[in-house]
Amino acid sequence: ELTAAIQNFNFDHILLNAAGVMCQTKEELDTVLASNYTGAVVTKSATPALREGNPTPRYYEMAQNLGTINSMGLPNAGFDYYMDYVSQKQTNKPIFFSIAGLSKQDNLDMLRQLEASDFEGLIELNLSCPNVPGKPQTAYDFEATEAILTEAFAFFTKPLGVKLPPYFDIVHFDMIAAVLNKFPLAFVNTINSIGNGLVVDPQTDTVVIKPKAGFGGLGGTIVKATALANVRALRDRLRDDIKIIGTGGVTTGRDVYDHVLCGADLVEVGSQLAVEGIGVFERLENELADILTAKGYTSLDQVRGQLKTI
Ligand code: DHB
Repeated sequence: ELTAAIQNFNFDHILLNAAGVMCQTKEELDTVLASNYTGAVVTKSATPALREGNPTPRYYEMAQNLGTINSMGLPNAGFDYYMDYVSQKQTNKPIFFSIAGLSKQDNLDMLRQLEASDFEGLIELNLSCPNVPGKPQTAYDFEATEAILTEAFAFFTKPLGVKLPPYFDIVHFDMIAAVLNKFPLAFVNTINSIGNGLVVDPQTDTVVIKPKAGFGGLGGTIVKATALANVRALRDRLRDDIKIIGTGGVTTGRDVYDHVLCGADLVEVGSQLAVEGIGVFERLENELADILTAKGYTSLDQVRGQLKTI
């Protein structure tokens, strides 16, 4: 069975969109929900009020499907729009409500509204947006991360997880895991884009996106090894009851399989969903099923976390 669970939530498929891709409008969210190959949907990270985001061009696909760079700047329809969507929606598929306030207070305000609401899905607190000028990625500040989670869990009782940026140092894996293990988190989602990359257009000798003089978050093929390292490092360090959503560099069924081998429970698709469209989920699930069949496995439980060292 190609299924997974987080607490009382059962996922009939392990794939879903990564926040930011195909989830800004109700129509896009419906498209992801309606797929027969998605286990859930995650909403575009919300801020309290609507945002237009950064100037365009703000998203670019590299040649040869190497990956993407973006500096969207949190364009979103505002918290109430997504709250209205999840309130109206009749579905058995779990919904992740993503929030990305520009301050601790914004995040705590949105969490209070979610706590008081009838929303019965999961909540993803995005501590890793790299694209708002002047706003650092919270989860690179371990004290700030502990502070917001301490204040949040003082009142928040619904299933809450965090979206993390990639870490690149073993000591940082140890430090973030030590913070996260202090809290009753339902899940951790790793990785967000690799922040502040830069891509050059060889025809024009220019950057390829307008915001932040060309600096933007990297996704797709080029981030896969970093994503797997973060999934593996966190699976090794977090309490068993904190589930892991693996995100980053998924373009094939083998990539999904590798995330699961490293310890992922669910796997998200960002760049390749933007490149390929909603059909990506059927292709990836079929490719994953073929790999499992070829290896003689009947369940992802036989694979999850079973990466071998040499
Ligand atoms: C945006 C990018 C991110 O990686 C993120 O976590 C949140 C928002 C953006 O630019 O819109």
